[in-house]
Amino acid sequence: MSDLYQKVANSPWGKSLVSAMNLPRPAILERQGRADSPFLEGQALLGAAQGGSLLEAVCEVVAASPATVFYTAQPASLSESALAKTKARANEVDLAKLEDTRRFKALVFDASGIANSLELRALYDFFHPVARKIAKCGRVVILGRPPEKCDPAKATAQKALEGFTRSLAKEIGKTGAVANLVYVEEGAEPLVESALRFFLSPKCAYVDAQVVTIQKAAKPKGRIDWNRPLQDQVALVTGASRGIGAAIARVLARDGAKVVALDVPGASDELEKVAKEIGGLALAVDITDANSPTQIADFLRKETGGVDIVVHNAGVTRDKTLARMPEHFWDLLMDINLNAIQRINDKLLSEEVLRKQGRLIGVSSIGGIAGNFGQTNYAASKAGVIGYTEAMSRVLKGGITINAVAPGFIETQMTAAMPFTIREAGRRMNSLSQGGQPQDVAEAIAFLANPGSNGISGQTVRVCGQSLIGK
Ligand SMILES: NC(=O)c1ccc[n+]([C@@H]2O[C@H](COP(=O)([O-])OP(=O)(O)OC[C@H]3O[C@@H](n4cnc5c(N)ncnc54)[C@H](O)[C@@H]3O)[C@@H](O)[C@H]2O)c1
Repeated sequence: MSDLYQKVANSPWGKSLVSAMNLPRPAILERQGRADSPFLEGQALLGAAQGGSLLEAVCEVVAASPATVFYTAQPASLSESALAKTKARANEVDLAKLEDTRRFKALVFDASGIANSLELRALYDFFHPVARKIAKCGRVVILGRPPEKCDPAKATAQKALEGFTRSLAKEIGKTGAVANLVYVEEGAEPLVESALRFFLSPKCAYVDAQVVTIQKAAKPKGRIDWNRPLQDQVALVTGASRGIGAAIARVLARDGAKVVALDVPGASDELEKVAKEIGGLALAVDITDANSPTQIADFLRKETGGVDIVVHNAGVTRDKTLARMPEHFWDLLMDINLNAIQRINDKLLSEEVLRKQGRLIGVSSIGGIAGNFGQTNYAASKAGVIGYTEAMSRVLKGGITINAVAPGFIETQMTAAMPFTIREAGRRMNSLSQGGQPQDVAEAIAFLANPGSNGISGQTVRVCGQSLIGK
């Protein structure tokens, strides 16, 4: 569904009207077009607190983009070879002397060296002079160390990064810019590329104020083709005939995967269309059928020889206040949104249909984080997805990861059916003052599915434009 207010507010006459009335003007967000378009263009500014050790890895990644790289005088940790890689040698800037017109598409700050709360001043020193110099749809990435792995003084400072990132995200959102925080465990530095490429790119258009931790893990085998990172992989996507599921199928196929698109037999026509469009396979199965895990496993074994990525997107709402909720609203919803996920995963794992280094990805919701009036069943199922993700990450073996995304307000048939006032509130109550697109959820899933994301497991990434709802 299109956002009429956003269109009007960005029209030549609407711009002056909304500014005269002091109303928000939701920026038109930049999104990834072709698979091979650069992940970062324009000017990128890198900085680090004293003692930081992640900027070298950042340089390696940014060097692969056409962005012009600038750095502040602070990063003593940056070796000559890293600077040479980014061709940044000539681009040292003095933050006190920046021209008014200067705009950075990306700001990356390595805060890993901040060892106590006094040293948090480094955040002010770096960001204060450039807070007004972030380009439209700019990207801020802050890197730190997981607080739970630090001594108390360092943990205090590293945890403070979360509050800083979330507040900065709120300040820059009106121009479509987002800020995210990546904690990198010691030893996980070689795995930072996938996260940086995502958080610096248009792919994270609606992922804002998130905290992702990269844990130590084996490096992925072979070189990743970042334009087609899922080449030679098979992905199963449930609920793929429309909405977010169809977008996930398209984005995974764009990234090179052979997609098996699953939906209920009643949606077969739409499902066939999606599968044909992306050169995938259609599988008409109702995941509430007791036999569906066997049907799915047999299909994958026979047609594709196994599966590498499983995205549990199929989901329903059956809203009613608890007092008025008929029992079939509870039972059916729970079966689709939570029980089926576990039944299918159990089958694919126990029979090794899911290959080593596989990816299990669930679709939760901010409703599962914040709760929602009339959604006790839905919120319970979606919180369950998060709990299942965390618990399973502790037992999975063979390099298999499990993660979830939690969408906020996404423009789909599900949200188009909401009453006008609730829909408008859902759309505007976030830092970007707009709803997300199904593609935004799909891009976050593709990031978690990437072979380079093997240091990320047990986590839930919200795709909600920093919704005011939830923590
Ligand atoms: N749209 C949003 O704003 C939003 C927000 C948060 C979370 N989500 C979640 O994202 C997912 C997709 O949402 P959407 O808005 O695209 O919904 P949608 O209703 O457009 O699509 C859901 C799909 O799941 C399929 N499905 C339902 N029951 C099934 C079953 N028993 N077996 C197989 N397939 C089945 C449907 O046929 C449909 O194609 C859901 O899990 C939803 O809870 C959506």
